[in-house]
Amino acid sequence: MGVIGLLTAGGDCPGLNAVIRGVVGRAGRRGSEVLGILNGWEGLMKDHTTPLDRDKVRGILGRGGTILGTSRMDPYVHGDGFASLHETISRNGIDKVIVVGGDGTLRSAMQLAGEGLKIIGVPKTIDNDICGTDITFGFQTAVQIATDAVDRLATTAEAHNRVIIVEVMGRTKGWIATHTGLAGGADYILIPEYEYDIGHVVDVLRQRHRSGHKYSIVVVAEGIDPPPGYETAEAKKDAFGFDRLGGVAYSVAAAIEDRTNFETRVSVLGHIQRGGTPVASDRVLASRMGVAATDFALDDLTNVMVAVRGTEMVPVPLSEAASGIRGVPEDLYATARTFFG
Ligand code: F6P
Repeated sequence: MGVIGLLTAGGDCPGLNAVIRGVVGRAGRRGSEVLGILNGWEGLMKDHTTPLDRDKVRGILGRGGTILGTSRMDPYVHGDGFASLHETISRNGIDKVIVVGGDGTLRSAMQLAGEGLKIIGVPKTIDNDICGTDITFGFQTAVQIATDAVDRLATTAEAHNRVIIVEVMGRTKGWIATHTGLAGGADYILIPEYEYDIGHVVDVLRQRHRSGHKYSIVVVAEGIDPPPGYETAEAKKDAFGFDRLGGVAYSVAAAIEDRTNFETRVSVLGHIQRGGTPVASDRVLASRMGVAATDFALDDLTNVMVAVRGTEMVPVPLSEAASGIRGVPEDLYATARTFFG
């Protein structure tokens, strides 16, 4: 039986260590070896690896980050695809690779599968936007952190009669914003999937303040466009060519303050949403995904991604994961809209 290589790539995400523990635990039970690959694809390109066994993964279940390290280095952006990994793979006797990553990583995984590498993908992102799976681990932790922040911001907003604009991550999709807004009782939620009218936002806040509630919380996804006539700083690009987002909340705040004279403040939550211990449901989900990925590998079910469908872990073709990204459906956003104001 060959060695299973395991890597975590792209931005980190609460639950990565639970996946690693799941893979090593299951592989050990089934008599297979796991070789940890350090810092994502970079470790496979540079032969930076470490053997993993049950002892090495004790005590990591609740730890944030990833004991393997991660990076945004990519074999197609920074190398020549499979050719740049080949030496590490043959030198270490790696038979299959379990790749834990987001949509960029899974797209590269699919290309490598096309070049003959046997891959099993595990979807990872706090953004919850990967196609083919109902949910990704890390998302529920990010939502919990952001909801805790909204709860805290609401009390200071109330004490000062202020509007507070809370900006959450999610890249081009509004899953974190929608769930956080729903869970935190936000007075408005702006997400990239649905166009907004700043005039309507202002009307809703004015109405709320007129009715005696002189503070408001507006949750905005980092990927929305600024209101017309307001700018955000030009976004830099990351290694996959994605815009690095953050800061649009300031333009929303300015537009609201200009129109209402309500004192308005901004809180951009940023990377705090990705740090620290995963919530229990993410620990369970990530553990199940690690175990399922290992079973797929050892049962020779490759070039697939582990997906959640209902309550089951199922294999879906990597091409499905790489087919695009998944947005918030209309009915969920409509539910959130019920509580605006
Ligand atoms: O994709 C996860 C994510 O946290 C996004 O929500 C965010 O836009 C991005 O990564 C931030 O990336 P970085 O850690 O490179 O700043």
